[in-house]
Amino acid sequence: MRRVVRESIGLIGFRMTLRYLAIYLLSYKPFSDKSYDRQHETDTGGMVPTSELDIEDEATKWQSNLYLGSPARVTRHLVRSLDISCADYSFIDYGSGKGRALFVAAEFPFKKVIGVEISQALHRVAETNLAKFRGKTSSEIELWRGNALDYELPSGNLVLHMYHPFGPDVLKLVLEHIQRAAEEEPGRKILIPYLFSIGVAKAVFREYPAFRLVRDELCVNNLYRWTLYEYKPAGS
Ligand SMILES: C[S@@+](CC[C@H](N)C(=O)[O-])C[C@H]1O[C@@H](n2cnc3c(N)ncnc32)[C@H](O)[C@@H]1O
Repeated sequence: MRRVVRESIGLIGFRMTLRYLAIYLLSYKPFSDKSYDRQHETDTGGMVPTSELDIEDEATKWQSNLYLGSPARVTRHLVRSLDISCADYSFIDYGSGKGRALFVAAEFPFKKVIGVEISQALHRVAETNLAKFRGKTSSEIELWRGNALDYELPSGNLVLHMYHPFGPDVLKLVLEHIQRAAEEEPGRKILIPYLFSIGVAKAVFREYPAFRLVRDELCVNNLYRWTLYEYKPAGS
């Protein structure tokens, strides 16, 4: 922090540095928000930077984004906005980390809730958290450890939640995988709420027009701007 302050003063001056520091100190810091864990006696908080994720393959690692749990309120808002009968859908969280979005989705409840996570360490934390939820929800929750690229989607209607889990190279391959699965089972509904929908992710979705943008919501905190895509191939 000292280094940041020192170098900022050199770059933007003392007064401007002070203003930005005040904004930072007053801002909401999601990585230190323990409200969900206090209520549920879980461990879903904190942040794990990409450099500390236990992913052996270097290329995959640098296409992975850091771990940060979605605030429960945001996940609830996303799910309610879908305006669906959740019991008719499976909810899959691509990059489920310690599992917070899964546990919140299970409140609705969905037919099935599945977490897909590449990090063994985060997967283990999610398993411990899940043990505390058994018996508290009627949703069946399943944790799948591995690369999202290798995950085979279940049949039926799907909500595929993504909190900006990976970089564009992996996102492209995942969308191609989803598209193939959709083509093999025509008629089912596939919805993708994408949280932290920054330009680079939107640009990837634009390359796959079968995923139509149906909602684009802004937030003063950029981390929570989100978009909703629905799989609707041309002519459907
Ligand atoms: C921003 S966190 C999302 C946390 C969680 N979805 C939530 O909303 O609480 C992104 C997660 O994606 C995981 N991830 C990154 N690349 C992945 C990949 N190729 N396959 C599976 N998970 C991946 C990271 O390990 C990290 O836990």
